[in-house]
Amino acid sequence: MNKSQYEFYISVEPTCSQALDEVINSLRTQISGHVHELSRNKQKDTVPWFPNDIQDLDRFANQILSYGSELDADHPGFTDPVYRARRKEFADIAYNYRHGQIIPRVEYTEEEKATWGTVFKELKGLYPTHACREHNRVFPLLEKYCGYRQDNIPQLEDVSRFLQSCTGFRLRPVAGLLSSRDFLAGLAFRVFHSTQYIRHGSKPTYTPEPDICHELLGHVPLFADPSFAQFSQEIGLASLGAPDEYIEKLATVYWFTVEFGLCKQGSEIKAFGAGLLSSFGELQYCLTDKPKLQPFDPDKTSIQKYPITEYQPVYFVAESFEDAKEKVRKFAATIPKPFAVRYNPYTQSIEVLETTQQTLNIQYYIPSSLAHDYKIYPP
Ligand SMILES: [Fe+2]
Repeated sequence: MNKSQYEFYISVEPTCSQALDEVINSLRTQISGHVHELSRNKQKDTVPWFPNDIQDLDRFANQILSYGSELDADHPGFTDPVYRARRKEFADIAYNYRHGQIIPRVEYTEEEKATWGTVFKELKGLYPTHACREHNRVFPLLEKYCGYRQDNIPQLEDVSRFLQSCTGFRLRPVAGLLSSRDFLAGLAFRVFHSTQYIRHGSKPTYTPEPDICHELLGHVPLFADPSFAQFSQEIGLASLGAPDEYIEKLATVYWFTVEFGLCKQGSEIKAFGAGLLSSFGELQYCLTDKPKLQPFDPDKTSIQKYPITEYQPVYFVAESFEDAKEKVRKFAATIPKPFAVRYNPYTQSIEVLETTQQTLNIQYYIPSSLAHDYKIYPP
């Protein structure tokens, strides 16, 4: 082999720079000194950990801020020992769940089904006039294929399989509240962390936290829409390795879109946020002239303050999911990160590339036949 004919470009992610020094020194002694260090990103040591592979989601699944069976004193089920024991059952299912497993099926009680039935009936009556067209397009499919009925609470596994066939999104049961960073990271892999329990039967139209009514009626129909799925994943990708203040901004963007978003549809405005589509009261309120409407603009939306226990005083209106996705993508490009990421759907993993300048360098070091595989995000 003629050594002068070959050059190897190696990108490494060392656990510490001392280990990298050892590797480089050892290469230098073994390859007669022709080892050049192109760059070393000092910033990288301070980048928060993020999952690289869909299986990595198992690593934070149980890093929850509160376990599902711990209820606040003002929760409708706080003094109900039967409800609390039930909540623990659901939390345990999620706690033991690992990626790739079938989500355990749950036999819901008659009381739980009655609660679901009340919510289902009320909301279904509002969807034709208040929900966006994407929600109304998917909802009949969920009735046909996933057991969406007034007298039946659909199973997460069935719904997850349906979503995978539509957009590759999947559900994963969650035992309690995840941090914003972890929750958003799931979206980068098209994984949505979903609750499986239902609200307390004494107040069917109220829940202080997400429950299966909120997930299945509010979130799921939209995750079956390709444009919305892309938009959601875009927020997730933007969050990977982002500094804390940007995680807060992205969580706020998520709040005003995936949870409480409105969008233009022809000459009308409709709801697409899951917090709206799962709340009989707020779904009607949001389309009255009481709240203030503003155009969706991540720079402004990401710093808007909001209440979490009452109807929103301000909503943001997206032109379309495509437009919202492009805006989030541009916003993501302003997040200070020493690298870019790209999702590889074939391996369900994240490819990490150094900054743009370093990526341009790669073009020089790798054969052009491979270079086209390295389109980067953000562009
Ligand atoms: Fe939600």
